[in-house]
Amino acid sequence: MKTKTHPHTLFSNSSHNTKSDNPNKQWGGRFCGGPSEIMQTINASISFDKTLWQQDIRGSHAHAEMLAHVGLISADDLAAIHQGLDDIYQEIESGSFIFSDALEDIHMNIEARLSERIGEAGKRLHTARSRNDQVATDFRLWVRDAIDSLNRHIASLMQALASKAKHHAADPMPGFTHLQTAQPVTFGHHLLAYVEMLSRDRGRLADTRRRLNECPLGSAALAGTSFPIDRQMTSAALDFDRPTANSLDAVSDRDFALEYLSALSILAMHLSRFAEEIILWCSAPFSFIRLSDAFTTGSSIMPQKRNPDAAELVRAKTGCIIGSLVGLLTVMKGLPLAYAKDMQEDKQPVFTATEAATLCLAAMEGMVRDMHVHTQNMRVFANAGYSTATDLADWLVRVLKLPFRTAHHITGKLVAKAEEKNITLAELSLAEMQEEEPGITEDIYSVLTVDASLASRTSMGGTAPHNVRIQAQKWLTLLDDTSTETTGTHA
Ligand code: ARG
Repeated sequence: MKTKTHPHTLFSNSSHNTKSDNPNKQWGGRFCGGPSEIMQTINASISFDKTLWQQDIRGSHAHAEMLAHVGLISADDLAAIHQGLDDIYQEIESGSFIFSDALEDIHMNIEARLSERIGEAGKRLHTARSRNDQVATDFRLWVRDAIDSLNRHIASLMQALASKAKHHAADPMPGFTHLQTAQPVTFGHHLLAYVEMLSRDRGRLADTRRRLNECPLGSAALAGTSFPIDRQMTSAALDFDRPTANSLDAVSDRDFALEYLSALSILAMHLSRFAEEIILWCSAPFSFIRLSDAFTTGSSIMPQKRNPDAAELVRAKTGCIIGSLVGLLTVMKGLPLAYAKDMQEDKQPVFTATEAATLCLAAMEGMVRDMHVHTQNMRVFANAGYSTATDLADWLVRVLKLPFRTAHHITGKLVAKAEEKNITLAELSLAEMQEEEPGITEDIYSVLTVDASLASRTSMGGTAPHNVRIQAQKWLTLLDDTSTETTGTHA
């Protein structure tokens, strides 16, 4: 796609230069002079809203079909419009279409070209329509497509995580709270936590999609139209569930974009947390994983370095995605009904955030699929830091029937004793244990290993390898069924 560098897009010395004749044939009728160069530059959105070209053409086909159906244009006009739009589609796809800043946006670029190609019939297309309902429709269609595409990307990342989780269903890692060793968990369980998060992300996008799926077309500028249009027809043709109910709301609502950006922000926050963990895990002091060469970079000065740049950039791009949400909320918050040109600034944040989120999902998936897990090292750390102290306390409760609070206190004493000697809990002798609680027997040692601790966590949602295997398999089966669906309602 080429953007014609319009002679007036570059400022001349005088910033108030105007053209003698208004070049905009779409709305220039009541104007004698053209816009100043600055006006044209600030006003033009074609550089970014050309992204909507397919949706714009699709909307125009549907609108024209409806106009012919209700008798507002002839069958011949309709045929010419369909043909003209198809030709323009080819032109844009092949890159030969010349976009013009003077024509402001994608809607007027396409409409002007249509009239250029087919004459009168092209000029009839805008009957009973305004750019306000047109852009609202195009943008909803675009966001809907983006949701469907992201939905597939998220499902694919979930699949990568679930299959890794299945593989590591019994491999221990230290579970942290406050980033302090807390209790052993399995690496599979940890990965499945992200699958749950991503599943909610799909759910949020599916909710957004359901609510956005109403067609604004036919709301016209703000008040509806006096022409006998059939809004059910255009809505159905564009695969919307129904037409919007209030014309003022239809042209001024950008909730769908905000909901979408909110869902992306939460998704990005999840990816960023995971990226942060990956960065920690592949640092030398952790050494839990090794990223593949495909997802690391070297340092220009330190030859030994393997930097997790992809994970760092996922973490950083989250800033841009959340910024997009805050930016658009700020654009919208002071606008009186109905449409205001401020709303033209709604698209870039959505396009930018979509591109970033798509890239982040792909990068995370690549890192997960390629990741080498240092299971032995994780096992060592899972055992460190008195990670089975809770298991000891639970034994005192279960076997000696001590109140948990008392058991907690005794265990604390035993941890302090072991710490003083710089040994693990399992290395304390039975006599040393009995100094704190005479009822303790040899049986206590059976709960102090990492594997015993893991195996005991069979409560629903717990980290026992048996649970993790079942959960991982459940996700793999579910994802197999749903990843090709357009809306991720249950996976
Ligand atoms: N390019 C405009 C936008 O994105 C289209 C709507 C223009 N409407 C108008 N009344 N000037 O918002």
